Amino acid sequence: MPTSPTPPSAARVVVLVSGTGSNLQALIDAATDPAYGVQVVAVGADRHGARALERAVRHGIPTFVCRVPDHRDRQAWDAALAEQIGAHTPDLVVSAGFMKILGEAVLSAHTVVNTHPALLPAFPGAHAVADALAYGVRVTGCTAHLVDSGVDTGPILEQVAVPVEDGDTPESLHERIKTVERSMLVDVVGRLARHGHTLTDRKVTIP
Ligand code: GRF
Repeated sequence: MPTSPTPPSAARVVVLVSGTGSNLQALIDAATDPAYGVQVVAVGADRHGARALERAVRHGIPTFVCRVPDHRDRQAWDAALAEQIGAHTPDLVVSAGFMKILGEAVLSAHTVVNTHPALLPAFPGAHAVADALAYGVRVTGCTAHLVDSGVDTGPILEQVAVPVEDGDTPESLHERIKTVERSMLVDVVGRLARHGHTLTDRKVTIP
């Protein structure tokens, strides 16, 4: 009987969320194919009641919540978050709509990928889509990047452009960005999981 090669074990991925979790859902869906090379081992949120947590529960994925107000200060919160993430021994952490700045404890222990709804370094921060629209850009998009200690300043992994249309509102533009953002994130996370990466002077190479 012919033998098939043993598939390499899937990378363990913890996803951090705050909101609706459509990016999380795209990762969960992609991970149903063993060839994708990713296992979503836990989903963590900074608040109770995030819709993304319900998605995780529906798929039998363990969840945890780590809220800033439950801790003495941001540093204590960051240490607690690092511990909760670490309990799932991830190979990679994905911040997919996680609306908090990660601190030293998390970042020194884990490689973290973030997805942002603008073409960085333009329009960092929590209101990227509205800021881009208000500025009057004709093209915006999304960026996947490694997280460093700054606000959306880490080395860029991938970017996809999205044209602004006449009459766009922040909501309509964000919906179109999110459509391409999900594919971008799925692609980048899969490639990182399967091949790893090297980093030289802000240039990321995925072999
Ligand atoms: C994404 O556009 C992400 O870049 C931004 O918030 C959105 C999250 O969407 N920070 P979802 O919760 O994955 O649907």
